[in-house]
Amino acid sequence: MASIFAGVTTSHVPAIGAALDNGKSTDAYWQPLFAGYEFSKRWIAEAKPDAIILVYNDHASAFSLDLIPTFAIGCAAEFPIADEGWGPRAVPPVTGHPELAWHIAASLILDEFDMTIVNKMEVDHGLTVPLSLMFGQPAAWPCPVIPLAVNVVQYPPPSGHRCYMLGKAIRRAVESFAAPLRVAIFGTGGMSHQLQGPRAGLINSEFDRNFLDRFVHEPRQAAGIPHIEYVREAGSESIELVMWLIARGALDDVVREVHRFYHVPASNTAVGHLILENTTTQGTKKP
Ligand code: DHB
Ligand code: FE
Repeated sequence: MASIFAGVTTSHVPAIGAALDNGKSTDAYWQPLFAGYEFSKRWIAEAKPDAIILVYNDHASAFSLDLIPTFAIGCAAEFPIADEGWGPRAVPPVTGHPELAWHIAASLILDEFDMTIVNKMEVDHGLTVPLSLMFGQPAAWPCPVIPLAVNVVQYPPPSGHRCYMLGKAIRRAVESFAAPLRVAIFGTGGMSHQLQGPRAGLINSEFDRNFLDRFVHEPRQAAGIPHIEYVREAGSESIELVMWLIARGALDDVVREVHRFYHVPASNTAVGHLILENTTTQGTKKP
């Protein structure tokens, strides 16, 4: 049986990818940010997941206002890197896990979560920046990645509660896969930020820190936060935090918090990062 042994949540600011790609990670502005991921890189190098389910949002790279899937799962064998305006990032292409992805898609749909199945898709900073933060700059990503894209760009995004329940269904799906894979789930985006309008640049550290606590210890309560509260308190793009709730739903109610990092600013965004281990599934280290 496959199992989900841990969750990783992190912001996905595109400038973080550009800083790494252009050799600026030791600059005074960026060094404190990358320092917050040093532990994480060691942790994941030891944990060696067999596969990652990476929950992220597409930023008008693969989808557009022509086609807006609420929840989409990537079932392809490979996902090329999207060109977001400056050429594709010079990072390895993302290798998928079609067998597990199709299993999860089937299980979710029969479990009444009507996923969009995607067989061809380019992936943008929402997916590649979290991989870079966790793995650095390898010649190839060390394990297959199943992209799970969520619409948080065009109203209405899914509710936090729906995302949390999807996480629980993902866990059921993974646990009904016969091969004994150790799977990590990433929830990306957030924390407070607003990229447009009169409130552009808004950061609310008090909201963010409180969200981190509730997310870890009272996830059901965090899942009940209405959209308007994110937008009002933490800026329009903080709505990306609903994606973290998918990862949280796939974990135990009581988790082990092994790492927390919070840093302001990175571009226009407050960066939050957690590593949470399940307490009921086997340990993190690969046997
Ligand atoms: C920024 C943050 C995002 O989440 C994003 O998708 C694009 C830009 C930023 O802070 O610049
Ligand atoms: Fe974003």
